[in-house]
Amino acid sequence: MTAAEGRVLLARAGGRIVAYRNACLHKGARLDTGVVRDGVLTCPAHLWRYRLDDGTCLNAEGTLERLPCRVLDGQVEVEVPAVSTAPLREQLLTHARTWRRHGGEAT
Ligand code: FES
Repeated sequence: MTAAEGRVLLARAGGRIVAYRNACLHKGARLDTGVVRDGVLTCPAHLWRYRLDDGTCLNAEGTLERLPCRVLDGQVEVEVPAVSTAPLREQLLTHARTWRRHGGEAT
């Protein structure tokens, strides 16, 4: 299930609701159309897998960005991150500077 115009992935893991940014760590594909089996979500694009309980990626080092959420009176409340207003070039440079591939160090 998604919220915030598809930017947030909501899932049930271990009897509780969890929320993550709805973007795969590999190339950013939306994860909400992925397949869940035995608590593991598989990205539909290139099959990277994530544990739903804590967002750990099983294919590379990294964890999905978890978003604070709570259930209040049957409603799920999620702290949705603001949409970046930086130019796309700056967003891509920021991403490239912090990207860690296969356990390598970001510089
Ligand atoms: S974008 Fe998800 S595995 Fe490639």
